[in-house]
Amino acid sequence: MLPTGGILNMKSKLRKIPALISVLLKEPYLINLILKSNEAAKNKFQQKYPNIVALPQVEVKDLSDELMPETIESFLMDGSSLITDLHLLMTLAGRTACNSYLEIGTWRGESVYNVAKQVSDCLTINLPKEEMRLLGFHEQYIRQHGVLSVQNKNISHLETNTRTFDFGSLQKKFDLIFIDGDHSYDMVRSDTEKVFKDLIKENSVVVWHDYAYNPQKIRYEVFQAILDGVGEENHRHLYHVKNTMCALFWRDEIKTSVYDAYEIPEKIYEISLREKAFSTVLK
Ligand SMILES: C[S@@+](CC[C@H](N)C(=O)[O-])C[C@H]1O[C@@H](n2cnc3c(N)ncnc32)[C@H](O)[C@@H]1O
Repeated sequence: MLPTGGILNMKSKLRKIPALISVLLKEPYLINLILKSNEAAKNKFQQKYPNIVALPQVEVKDLSDELMPETIESFLMDGSSLITDLHLLMTLAGRTACNSYLEIGTWRGESVYNVAKQVSDCLTINLPKEEMRLLGFHEQYIRQHGVLSVQNKNISHLETNTRTFDFGSLQKKFDLIFIDGDHSYDMVRSDTEKVFKDLIKENSVVVWHDYAYNPQKIRYEVFQAILDGVGEENHRHLYHVKNTMCALFWRDEIKTSVYDAYEIPEKIYEISLREKAFSTVLK
């Protein structure tokens, strides 16, 4: 039986149903907000994976013995990864075992640009500009793709849609792979399956961005796509990287802790910010 507070809460919600129906009749597309909500995705997730609450957590400092990168560059604008996400990528890239990097999702090129400070063999993949135009994206958004990454000539840019691209045609395996393209369930699953089929080798490390909305709020649609995409035999190698929005595929032994959405902080980051001019050349 529901406690009194629960009954009152339920009654107050039920009273809102006529207003909800009236809004949905006027703006039917709003139903998508409900169906695509994180709560709906969580319910679906729990039906498929009733025994998985979250991934075990790992800390960036336990992923490498090499010196941590100190300078990270970011526009700190819409679509920018967290500084801790970039720090994770640079830490993984700085390991002696890491000599090649592939990413899905270039955007302004911030992630690959920072990784390229540690790894000279970098390939970033993004939708072709023409395809983005056909999808009706804003011209100024389209033309900003790669504005930072084109400044480093070592970075290779490949314009293709990963939905149809044959990753096998690259005829290459990568040490570090960052999956950060389309974040819908279908595309994260498809990108993941293709990466695991064609691009990984014994010690490859894979990072997914936006597996969480923030370091303490899991994004269940993406989480489920990762679990479905890697296959059950690889679930034991998946981790939530603490203080980031990233999930990690890592085969080596590593110290873990239990994810806690209400964790009380036990450390604080000291970040020095320095602004410098950047002249954007739109292509
Ligand atoms: C979140 S942004 C990438 C951000 C970048 N990795 C960073 O951290 O600086 C996602 C990018 O994926 C691209 N994208 C979306 N769907 C794609 C697809 N099917 N194939 C290739 N690129 C795609 C978008 O154009 C967008 O630029």
